[in-house]
Amino acid sequence: MTETTGPPSRPPADVAVADHVLPGDVLPGDVLPGDVLPSWAVVDLDAVAANTGVLRERAGGAAVMAVVKADGYGHGMVPAALAALAGGATWLGVAHLAEALELRAAGVRAPVLAWLVVPGQDLAPAVAAGVDVSASAVWALEALARAARRTGRTARVHLKVDTGLSRGGATARDWPDLVRAAAAAQAEGAVEVVAVWSHLASADDEGSDALTLRQVQRLAEAVEVAGRLGVRPPLRHLAASSGVLAHPSAHLDLVRPGVAVYGISPAPERFSAAEAGLVPAMSLRARLALVKEVAAGAGVSYGHSHVTSARTRLALVPLGYGDGLPRHASGCGPVALAGRRYPVAGRVCMDQVVLDLGDDEAARAARAGDEVEVFGAGADGGPTAQDWADAAGTIAYEVVTRIGARVPRVHVGAVAERLGPASPGGAR
Ligand SMILES: Cc1ncc(COP(=O)(O)O)c(C=O)c1O
Repeated sequence: MTETTGPPSRPPADVAVADHVLPGDVLPGDVLPGDVLPSWAVVDLDAVAANTGVLRERAGGAAVMAVVKADGYGHGMVPAALAALAGGATWLGVAHLAEALELRAAGVRAPVLAWLVVPGQDLAPAVAAGVDVSASAVWALEALARAARRTGRTARVHLKVDTGLSRGGATARDWPDLVRAAAAAQAEGAVEVVAVWSHLASADDEGSDALTLRQVQRLAEAVEVAGRLGVRPPLRHLAASSGVLAHPSAHLDLVRPGVAVYGISPAPERFSAAEAGLVPAMSLRARLALVKEVAAGAGVSYGHSHVTSARTRLALVPLGYGDGLPRHASGCGPVALAGRRYPVAGRVCMDQVVLDLGDDEAARAARAGDEVEVFGAGADGGPTAQDWADAAGTIAYEVVTRIGARVPRVHVGAVAERLGPASPGGAR
């Protein structure tokens, strides 16, 4: 692996992919040329870069931290991170230290924030790699200071305050103690407080705009308290995707969009991805494993919740809940074949679903090996991750993030080509 250097104290104004990858570090595709795959996910890195550019514009003067946790919401963490940096992000955000260290191991030198640590975790590797770490409690601050003393390197910390989500962050009552501990560790040179930050509870919900404004106000109050106690970090950050797109007052110095980077609306009841100028980056595809004719009255898939109403053709799609398709979308998740949408017939199984094609000309033309799109950019009425979320009663975040490791990611686009060998044609 590569030698890594810590982040610059200020994000670079102009970021190019070449600034973040060392030769040979990252291959954009993990599929061998010529492979024929049962299923795969095409990830358009140009869409990731373009979406990041849209968010950067919408964020006004705020810098953009692209959130790439959970394997880049299922899109492949390192390629997604590089595409977001190419699109104008200057920071990256993850939940776990291991994710941050994976970015560093891939040669990424941009500032990276990791926000989820537990007592007893070894923070020294993160401090040594120049990873910014969040602290919501005094024990985390002290652990960071100890890691700094051990590594001989100042730990960069973002102090998190709970402004109303009641998840991470210090309560208003605990906040002064956390700030005092940070001030002491900063005076000693063990830590550098980089930011005061928080997370919005309901920025996707029009009915909760008053709560969002209260959270903006509470963050301002926490910054004021910190200042009075001698801690005046250069950055404040609060907004994730819906904050970027719907709440300019929450933009502050830095925004942390995740799902919108991947082209998905964070607030589908407020605006669609297209209305926000976003393009879904992931297209989940498969080849039909079997097409066969059955008579009327055939029970389809486990439990026979679908029964054919007439002679028909059934098509077998090699994707199931073992690949992340929600089982709750049984009987309704949409799949496109040759420009037409068919709902999944019967239950979603672990490895496969069945389509009931009917008995028309299109059905008779279907062959094993034909390509289907389970979801994608939604062009020409094709199904989207949002359609699957609606079918399953969940959110599109969950749909893309759950696509499993068994589904190879094929990264495409000019950004992918700049990163290394092009992804294989066999999978497309
Ligand atoms: C602390 C934090 N910031 C930012 C994000 C990105 O959120 P979104 O995907 O809604 O933009 C998340 C994701 O859950 C998060 O936990």
